[in-house]
Amino acid sequence: MAKKAKDIPYDGPAIELIDIVAGYGDTIVLDGISLSVKHKEIFTVIGLSGSGKSTLLKLVIGFLKPFSGKIFIDGEDITHFSERRMRKVRMKLGMVFQHAALFDSLSVYDNIAFPVRQRKNVPRSKIRGIVADKLADVDMQGTGKLMPSELSGGMQKRVGLARALAENPRIILYDEPTTGLDPVITNNINRLILKTRDSYEATSLVISHDMESVFRISDRVGVLLDGKIIALGTPGEIQASNNKEVQAFIHGEEFPSHLERHISLV
Ligand SMILES: Nc1ncnc2c1ncn2[C@@H]1O[C@H](COP(=O)(O)OP(=O)(O)OP(=O)(O)O)[C@@H](O)[C@H]1O
Ligand SMILES: [Mg+2]
Repeated sequence: MAKKAKDIPYDGPAIELIDIVAGYGDTIVLDGISLSVKHKEIFTVIGLSGSGKSTLLKLVIGFLKPFSGKIFIDGEDITHFSERRMRKVRMKLGMVFQHAALFDSLSVYDNIAFPVRQRKNVPRSKIRGIVADKLADVDMQGTGKLMPSELSGGMQKRVGLARALAENPRIILYDEPTTGLDPVITNNINRLILKTRDSYEATSLVISHDMESVFRISDRVGVLLDGKIIALGTPGEIQASNNKEVQAFIHGEEFPSHLERHISLV
């Protein structure tokens, strides 16, 4: 008997953006973005401050709707999904926010338990097990009772990652996971991103300014400039790109003059 479509495992792109135009009010921030992130790939988007990197993540997680274009998650067109349907999609997405974004009034334990408690009737013992596992995944065992204010920036990021992992997401979105951290903690977070990809077999869409990390952890990199992806390829291909703007960006050099307005935003 022929297999029904739903029996055939989906092995297309985990995330696909097709010709996305998006922004706020009358302002266009992303102006015709198309990209496709494969399963288990670590895909990083780099670009100047204000170029729309976080906006891109907001579209994937459904906090923002595009003006036009289409967004697919695991082959499902979520572009016009209602908030109710989006909540279901978000169960397979984990998000590590730009500024850890922990709930200040909740302990580390309760921060990580938070997404699990959104599901009804999860027994306490199960929640305890999940929190312990996730804390171990990010090397933070025994810190459940601490409050976010008692943690260093790197520890907060790790708790943010543990919380994102709580529901075993198939896709993890990282907004600036290493920006502003010292080199040792940066290494530590990079290792965690790689380990997470391997142990969760998750697809990762990463936003970053941190060139060293980008080239170390990414399978492919997209360069966002003036609302468009101006270059896309492996770290080696991006580093070897002969596009002047790409080179200026990755080496932190002066931009060609028509792009100067962006420099002041960095
Ligand atoms: N909620 C909002 N309302 C209006 N404009 C916004 C909003 N969020 C972002 N913007 C604007 O959209 C543009 C892109 O912002 P976004 O946060 O996506 O940039 P980014 O590339 O993530 O920057 P950074 O590297 O500083 O985090 C900026 O000009 C920003 O001012
Ligand atoms: Mg941002």
